[in-house]
Amino acid sequence: MSTEAYHPGLEGVIAGETAISSITGGLSYRGYSITDLAVQSTFPEVAYLLLHGELPNEEELADFKTILDESATIDPSIIQFLGQIPLHVSSMDALRTGVSAVAHFDPQLDDDRPAAKIAQATRLLGQIPILIAARHRLRRGLPLIPHDPELSFAGSLLRLITGETPSPLAEKAFDVSLILYAEHEFNASTFTARVITSTQSDLYSSIVGAIGALKGALHGGANERVLEVLQEVDDPSRADDWVREALSKKRRIMGFGHRVYKDGDPRATILRNYCQMLAAEREDNRLERIADTIESFVKSEKGLPPNLDWPSARLYHYLDLEVDLFTPLFVASRVAGWAAHVIEQGANNRLIRPRSRYIGPPSRPYLRLDERSN
Ligand code: ACO
Repeated sequence: MSTEAYHPGLEGVIAGETAISSITGGLSYRGYSITDLAVQSTFPEVAYLLLHGELPNEEELADFKTILDESATIDPSIIQFLGQIPLHVSSMDALRTGVSAVAHFDPQLDDDRPAAKIAQATRLLGQIPILIAARHRLRRGLPLIPHDPELSFAGSLLRLITGETPSPLAEKAFDVSLILYAEHEFNASTFTARVITSTQSDLYSSIVGAIGALKGALHGGANERVLEVLQEVDDPSRADDWVREALSKKRRIMGFGHRVYKDGDPRATILRNYCQMLAAEREDNRLERIADTIESFVKSEKGLPPNLDWPSARLYHYLDLEVDLFTPLFVASRVAGWAAHVIEQGANNRLIRPRSRYIGPPSRPYLRLDERSN
C-alpha cells in the first residue's frame, strides 16, 4: 500500500493559489467582505472587481456597463438554433450549447492575453442573459424581449425573462443574489475551469466545462431541487415528518451542508433576509414558514446549516422565475468568477495533472484471444 497522501474528493487539499477570493474569516472577494458588497455594491461593480482586480470608479463602471449593453445581442443563427433544440432539453443544457456556439463568432477566440480574456468575459456577461431568456421564451412560444440599457443589469435580466419590469425590492434582491453567486474560490466548477485553462485551452472551453460541472445536483443544480423539497413538504406542519423520513432513507436534503462551511454559509444568511422581505411584499409567508421549520429540524437532527441554494430557490420563486432557470441564473453570475480564475490560471500556469492511487488487479500475464476463448 502506497504511503503517498490521498484525500478523497481532494477534501482539505490546497490545490493552488488565488488572489480572487477567500473564505477565511468570512467570504471576501479581492479583500472586500461579501456583506459590504451585497449591501453597498451592484453586480456589475462586483463583476468588474473580479475581472480587473479593483472596484471601478464612476467612469470605468459606465464604460463597463456600455460594453455589457453593447454585447447584449446574439447572432440570429444562434437564436434560431436555440429555438430548434428539442423542448425537453433543460435550460441549463441549452445554455451550455449556447455559450459554445457564441465562441464561434468571437474574433478573439485564440487570443490568450489577459486583456483579450477580460474583453471576452465582459462580452459573455452581456450575452448570457440573452441566451437564457431567448431559449426560455422561444421554448414557451413567447415573443423575445429586447435588452433595456436604461435598466440595471439585474433589472434587465429579469425583464428579458418575465417581460415585466421588477419592483425596486425584487431588483435589489436579485442583484444581491448575483453578487453572492459570483465567486467562491476553488469550488468544483471553478476548479474545472482552471483545469481546462491549464492545458492552454481557450476561455470558452473553460466556461463550457464549468457549466457542465455546475449542473450537478451536489453543486449548482441543488437550487432547482430545493424548490421541489419545499413544494413536496407543502405545509409547515408536515416539515418535521418529511425531514425525519428523508434522513431515515439516507436522502440528501438539497440546500443543506457544504464542503467548506461546516458552521454555516454566510451567503445564506444575507439572502434569507431578502426572502423574508419579498415574502412580505407578496403578503404570503407560507414558504418562509416551511423553510424555517425544515431549517431548525435539519440543524437539530443532523447539525447541518443551509447553504446559499436554500434561500436562493425561494427568492427566485418569489421573482416568478421558473425552476428550470435557477441554475442558468447561477451561471449568469458565476461566469465572472470563472473568467477571473481562467485569467489568473493563465497568467501563472502550470498544467494541473494530479496522480491517482491504483486499486485494480495486480500485474498479470497477457493471454492471446485464442487462449482466452478456450
Ligand atoms: N442532507 C443530508 N445529509 C447530508 C447533507 C444533506 N444535504 N449534506 C451532508 N450530509 C451528511 C452526509 O450524509 C454525511 O453524513 P454521515 O457522516 O452520517 O454519513 C455527513 O453529512 C458529511 O457529508 P459529506 O458528503 O462528507 O460532506 P461533503 O463535504 O462531501 O458534502 C455537499 C458537501 C456535497 C454540498 C453535501 O453537503 C450535499 O450533498 N448537500 C446537498 C447538495 C447541495 O445543497 N449542494 C449545494 C452546495 S453549495 C453550492 O453549490 C452553491
